Amino acid sequence: MKIGLIYGSDTGVTEEISLKIKEKFKNYNIERHNIANINEDIILSFDFLIFGLSTWYDGDLQSDWEAYFDDFKKIDFSDKLVAIYGLGDQWGYEDYFVDGIGMIANEVIKNNGKLIGEWPTQGYEFEKSKALKDKDTFFGLALDEDNQYEETESRIEIWTKNIIEFLEKNYK
Ligand SMILES: Cc1cc2nc3c(=O)[nH]c(=O)nc-3n(C[C@H](O)[C@H](O)[C@H](O)COP(=O)(O)O)c2cc1C
Repeated sequence: MKIGLIYGSDTGVTEEISLKIKEKFKNYNIERHNIANINEDIILSFDFLIFGLSTWYDGDLQSDWEAYFDDFKKIDFSDKLVAIYGLGDQWGYEDYFVDGIGMIANEVIKNNGKLIGEWPTQGYEFEKSKALKDKDTFFGLALDEDNQYEETESRIEIWTKNIIEFLEKNYK
């Protein structure tokens, strides 16, 4: 299985996290790419895609994701596994917390991708988010380095462990 970890980051936080997530998959064939340098052929060369992004300016995608988004929406994710992680600020932007996770998730689902790695909303405080699958569940891992940096390490540990268990069970 080829894993592609594709991230976009304005001030380097999501990029930093991508290194930590990559480390957790060190026993796998994993490549890390910045969305700023990506194309459809690269994306489709992977079996399992981990997408990482932050949310900006009241619910906008991170700038490089935004620049690629029209092309992204046209990708057929049939036979692809996808997991998403997103950075946000739940107190500063309580009506738009990690909206980017939801915006990417919706396109992946619409275009036949199989989304894994959903995450509980327990432990977060916010009003609204497009990242909600239902009121108890985010479509992907929500990380908040602005307010809950002390939670990040264990959230990554649990999220990646869940995903690796899923991969071991279903794809070995
Ligand atoms: C001007 C500005 C706007 C932001 N807008 C949002 C937002 O709408 N929703 C959210 O969850 N976080 C928002 N954030 C928080 C960022 O997503 C967060 O700081 C993130 O860690 C930045 O990651 P990056 O450096 O990888 O881009 C905003 C931050 C700034 C400075």
